[in-house]
Amino acid sequence: MPGQKLVIEGGKSLSGEIKVQGAKNSSLPILAASLLCSGESVLRNCPMLSDVYASCRILNRLGCKCRAENNTVIVDSSSADKAEIPDEMMREMRSSIIFMGALLGRFGYCSLSYPGGCELGPRPIDMHLDALRKMGASVNDEFGIIRCRAEKGLHGTKISLKYPSVGATENIMLAAVLAKGETIIFNAAREPEIIDLGMYLNKCGAVVKGTGGSTIVIEGRERLHGCIHNIMPDRIAAATYIAAVAATRGEINILNFDAAFAESFLPVFEQMGCDVYVYDGNIYVGARKPLKGVGKIITMPHPGFPTDAQAVVMAVLCRAKGSSIFEETIFESRYRHVNALVKMGADIKTAGKAAVIEGVRKMYGAKVEATDLRGGAAMAVAALGAEGITEVSELRYIDRGYESIENVLTSLGASVKRV
Ligand code: UD1
Repeated sequence: MPGQKLVIEGGKSLSGEIKVQGAKNSSLPILAASLLCSGESVLRNCPMLSDVYASCRILNRLGCKCRAENNTVIVDSSSADKAEIPDEMMREMRSSIIFMGALLGRFGYCSLSYPGGCELGPRPIDMHLDALRKMGASVNDEFGIIRCRAEKGLHGTKISLKYPSVGATENIMLAAVLAKGETIIFNAAREPEIIDLGMYLNKCGAVVKGTGGSTIVIEGRERLHGCIHNIMPDRIAAATYIAAVAATRGEINILNFDAAFAESFLPVFEQMGCDVYVYDGNIYVGARKPLKGVGKIITMPHPGFPTDAQAVVMAVLCRAKGSSIFEETIFESRYRHVNALVKMGADIKTAGKAAVIEGVRKMYGAKVEATDLRGGAAMAVAALGAEGITEVSELRYIDRGYESIENVLTSLGASVKRV
């Protein structure tokens, strides 16, 4: 069956207000964390995305009762009784690896395979495994199947991460909340989604302190119960819609959005020449003036510029006067959208970690293919500001991270159709 595509007629200036969807990168670890609770968790503001459905399927497979409806996911993990995740479920999404810490915490055992080959380059899990070993688990990693066992249960310990990995920090948190004693994570990831995970766990009775900083301290508890939790808004979706508006020289109000979630990328829009105001819990971004290049942007762990926003911001800079340079330090293959942008008329040269963008006056519609989630979104952003019609195929990549992207863009005045 041929896949779906977005057909975008560019050149319309977008304006309006939106409330962004709940954060994918917060929902997925929180769904995995719900396995640790004996009782029901009600997760509101959950984006209805394929990865969220995949997490629900995993939870049901493990014996939980999980159902998703109208942006609320309800998980009852009282009946969980399995600790194995089949290969085909692991491969459905990369974040399935976060179930490792949760399963070990709940059952003292787990068996799962590596998540499927990745579109962003290698995504090793050595830090996850080293940390779990330090907490008392034996790890057997053979023929792509990882079996972890903690005969005497997991125990707290001090873990210094060599790099502030988001996934490793989450896996350790999940393993530690039911472990014996205190776990301290040094050089922990500081992303807002880690704070959200900590908030959820604490509501369930866990004791997690210091999230948002580099040192997280977790005191193990005997058991956790369920809770009601609102998933934080998706900061990368917000960055994408701001980029869409900037690319079309429009303006947007992002409603009910804590500006702290945007501190890592909003300054770049200001540097381009956008007007940015934070008011009453909302953010306004206006791009009515001509935009200019921004010099060098280096992707870094939070609070640095997020690698997930690199592609969509690049799509705006393609038509900003002057030069901009990206240095991508997090993933190896994160410039796969560049060929499509060049096909649309952009002037971008890449060499290793660097991408140099010389702003052009115009870009043109073309037939392009999404190669990964954020790269696909970048093509849509460029298309909105380009002359003529663009078709972005392989829409399934974009759907992994954006809830009905065509409806959100249409509500801002874009001409976008899903075909
Ligand atoms: C998470 C996000 C992803 C984002 C990324 C970086 C989710 C579901 N995904 O991915 O959208 O792009 O953070 O902000 O939240 N690494 C190792 N060994 C490990 C673990 C990681 O070498 O054991 C390396 C990775 O290869 C990468 C870097 O550390 O170069 C950052 O990865 P990490 O922070 O773990 O990203 P993810 O959790 O996979």
